[in-house]
Amino acid sequence: MSQAFLAPVDPARLPRHVAIIMDGNGRWARQHRVRVAMGHRAGTEALRDIIRNSSDIGIQALSLYAFSTENWSRPQAEVEALMQLMLDFFRSEIDELDRKGVRITILGDRDGLPAAQRETLEQAQRRTRQNAGLRLNIAINYGGRAELARAARLIAQDVASGALDVHDVDEQALESRLYTAGLPQVDLLIRTSGEMRLSNFLLYQCAYAEFVFPQVLWPDFTLRDYHECLAQYQSRSRRFGGREA
Ligand code: FPP
Repeated sequence: MSQAFLAPVDPARLPRHVAIIMDGNGRWARQHRVRVAMGHRAGTEALRDIIRNSSDIGIQALSLYAFSTENWSRPQAEVEALMQLMLDFFRSEIDELDRKGVRITILGDRDGLPAAQRETLEQAQRRTRQNAGLRLNIAINYGGRAELARAARLIAQDVASGALDVHDVDEQALESRLYTAGLPQVDLLIRTSGEMRLSNFLLYQCAYAEFVFPQVLWPDFTLRDYHECLAQYQSRSRRFGGREA
């Protein structure tokens, strides 16, 4: 899409970390009278442009909620379709992502994934580990509460083994044990489809995020919508509990 059609965004004040809850695939499928798997497929198509553009404009980190720990309760056919889509996505996109310098990180419990998905994702993560461009985080089998419980467990282990003094258990100790260790906190959270919930996504990392809730269903989400969200973010006054400078 030509840049002329996009909302003006100040490149000097971009959010460092954007998180997206890609909601509305099911409703899109119902609207189009197709199977829900087709909605997720259309959602995957929408994703490509957003990743590419985030990398091009210099967003530091983009976190996508692809599959939550609660999504296993969906009908088996839908779960299988989503798993297959993720496999296809990584297999078809990895070369271009790597070429663009994108570094992929998986957020979530990989042990709970089918072997093919786990191997493909781990391979993508290994292959792009040295890349210095966009940090692309894919949350799969992810839950924010489970992530915090895991970090607490890792801290407890380190305290028990003597590697960490109990007096050094602070925010930094916790942050360094999250899946997002080393990444900036989320500046902008986008959830499409008009729903206004966090749904267990990046609970800790969103503490001071600005939230934008476009009405559009995820498969219809375009670069124009994305740049409107970025422009909205830039119109907000962020005080982090303090006073405006
Ligand atoms: C929510 O829509 C969306 C999901 C649960 C899955 C999101 C996954 C993708 C967009 C594709 C796969 C991702 C990658 C990284 C390739 P919903 O089905 O809950 O929508 P509804 O609320 O309208 O039913």
